Amino acid sequence: MEKFIINGGKPLKGEVNICGAKNAAIAILPAILLVKGTCRIENLPNISDVKKYIEVLQELGVKITYESPNEIFVENTEVNSTKCLFEKCRKMRASYYLLGSLLGRYKSVEVPFPGGCDFGTRPIDQHIKGFTALNAQVTLEDGIIKANAKKLVGTSIYLDVVSVGATINILLASVLAEGTTFIENAAKEPHIVDLANFLNAMGANIKGAGTDTIKIQGVKELPGNTAYSIIPDQIEAGTFMIAAAATGGDVIVKNCIPKHLDSLTSKLIEMGITVEEMGDSIHVKCDKRPQKATIKTLPYPGFPTDMQPQMAVLLSIANGTSILTEGVWENRFQYVSELQKLGANIRIEGRSAIIEGVKNLTGSFVNSPDLRGGAALIIAGLAAKNVTEVYNLDHVDRGYENFEQKLKNLGAKIERVKVE
Ligand code: UD1
Repeated sequence: MEKFIINGGKPLKGEVNICGAKNAAIAILPAILLVKGTCRIENLPNISDVKKYIEVLQELGVKITYESPNEIFVENTEVNSTKCLFEKCRKMRASYYLLGSLLGRYKSVEVPFPGGCDFGTRPIDQHIKGFTALNAQVTLEDGIIKANAKKLVGTSIYLDVVSVGATINILLASVLAEGTTFIENAAKEPHIVDLANFLNAMGANIKGAGTDTIKIQGVKELPGNTAYSIIPDQIEAGTFMIAAAATGGDVIVKNCIPKHLDSLTSKLIEMGITVEEMGDSIHVKCDKRPQKATIKTLPYPGFPTDMQPQMAVLLSIANGTSILTEGVWENRFQYVSELQKLGANIRIEGRSAIIEGVKNLTGSFVNSPDLRGGAALIIAGLAAKNVTEVYNLDHVDRGYENFEQKLKNLGAKIERVKVE
């Protein structure tokens, strides 16, 4: 096990480069199973979630070689089996995208019920509704989801909740289906558009990704034989923007798509922080105490739930009482008890955190409860006086490439050390 030792209270200053988007990468990796020919994927983030996904695909028989830590070449997408029941698959939530891609390509798949970060119940009823509507038989027995179809037939599917995962899975399953599929009330996150762009580059016919209705005209095969570069990670960019603001810093976040960060940018400006868009960069500068804010997380283009824990840190040191409401997940405040150890004054009322801003946080020992909660605690440690130790780094390693090196380049005093 490893931990970070952070000597906080130093403003972050300088420039940071953003990597490829984790959530786009782990949707595009299973999508390569739909491609008949070769493909090259560039700007892959070098994070443990991506490395594990590649190992799962290799274990299934897919021939993938690394051309660099951020680029792979896929030579052969045939699998040895459509039963994905081995250990690595069980441990990875995003392995449920294999349902859509293997069902789409081979009309048969078995995948364990997904695990992953614990934000309360994480049903997959909308995924199953979509597969069933496409003519598949889906069963759930002993923690294994099985889906089979003689042939998949396009239809219109209305999602009862806006679900990123269900939109992705139905997209994957319908690309090679007969006829036309419409996904109504679809999620609009940038990584859904990125997945659709990848599939179209490989030969699919998808229109409307990024809107409420996605139209997928089934094609016979995806020839591939081309390269695709993954979009920058909006959550990584947002994490550095908040880290800059929380430490009273001055940071240029480079290689991002500012449009994807509009909801965060407008909140930061409302709180009195200077945010300037400059092409594919965002300049964040904070030279006074931020003001309170009221925020509710929502599906894109609303304020992202994956930025909620990081934002809570900034609100913890803002002037006044803020209300931060979680509108996507049932329970996403596991990090709060850890943040309180640093002196944050937060109470939870239902799905809202009521945050009375304090002047300073003070270093302590904290456990990272999940990926974004871990990022939030690291930001808190950077902003706090004295020393903070953050344990359970496996979570942040799942989603942030070279996190401590990037922070060090911005002047942070942060060290990764082994825990006996
Ligand atoms: C994805 C992201 C995750 C982010 C979330 C919301 C990935 C790998 N993960 O997760 O980081 O926090 O989007 O932006 O991209 N729901 C149902 N039935 C379903 C599916 C979902 O009721 O069949 C509910 C969920 O319980 C939740 C809401 O819909 O309340 C949103 O979930 P969803 O968008 O599916 O999240 P994920 O795709 O799992």
